[in-house]
Amino acid sequence: MDRRLLIAANWKMHPAPKGFDAKDSAYRSMKDVDVIVFPGFLDLRRCVDAGLVTGAQWGHAETNGAHTGDVSMEMIKEAGATHVLCGHSERRRNYGETDALIRSQVEAALAQGLQPILCVGETEEERKAGKEKSVIERQLKGMPAGIIVAYEPVWAIGTGHVAEAGDAQAMHAFIRSLVPDGNSARILYGGSMTGANAKDLLSQPDIDGGLVGGASLKPDDFANIVAAAQGVKKN
Ligand code: PGA
Repeated sequence: MDRRLLIAANWKMHPAPKGFDAKDSAYRSMKDVDVIVFPGFLDLRRCVDAGLVTGAQWGHAETNGAHTGDVSMEMIKEAGATHVLCGHSERRRNYGETDALIRSQVEAALAQGLQPILCVGETEEERKAGKEKSVIERQLKGMPAGIIVAYEPVWAIGTGHVAEAGDAQAMHAFIRSLVPDGNSARILYGGSMTGANAKDLLSQPDIDGGLVGGASLKPDDFANIVAAAQGVKKN
C-alpha cells in the first residue's frame, strides 16, 4: 500500500497568509504530495473557493443543537471542506477535551464523510516520566479505522524544539502498531517542523507527512517543507 505524503498547514487563529489563493501558491497539492490547509472558520470558504483542499480545525460531534459558538461536522462538510482536525493538544489543554469526547468527534466526522486527522502526543512531564507510550495508547484506544493520525509531542509544538528524527520514528512505528489499519494509515509528525528539518523527519519510514503550525504561515518556508516531501516514497 503506497502512502502518499501529506503536508497540512494549521493556521490556528491567524489570518490566511497573503497569496494563499494564487495559482502558484505553496498551499496547492503537488504531483507527489497532498497539501491541505486548515484555516480559521471565517476563511474556510475562501480556501474552498480558491480550489485548495481544505479542512476545519475542529468540529462538534452533534449534528445541530443549542451549542452557541460551535460548528458541526455537517456544516463543515456543507461549506466544502473535506478534512477536520480532532483532539489538537491546544483544544485538549484549553477546553479540557477528553479522549471520549474526541472519539465522538472522530466518529461524527467519518459519519459525514469527512477525513479526521486525530492529533495525539505526550507532554514534557509525561515524557520525562517515561509515560509517552501509555499516553498515546490511551489517546488511540477505541479509535475507528480510516483515520489519519498526527503525532504531535506537546513539548515540540510552537517551541522550536523539534523531536529527534529517530525518536519521532520510534513513536510513529508504535502508533502504526496500534491503529486498526496500520499498514495503510498515514501518520504525520507535528511540532516545530520547518524547511530546515523536514527532510530528515520525512525520510523516516513511518513518517508520512507533517502537520505544520508556525512555518505554515510563511509561504516560502512552507514551500520548502512541501519540496522536501517531493519524491519521498512510502510503502
Ligand atoms: P508548530 O505547530 O508547527 O507551530 O509547532 C504544530 C501544530 O500545533 O499543529
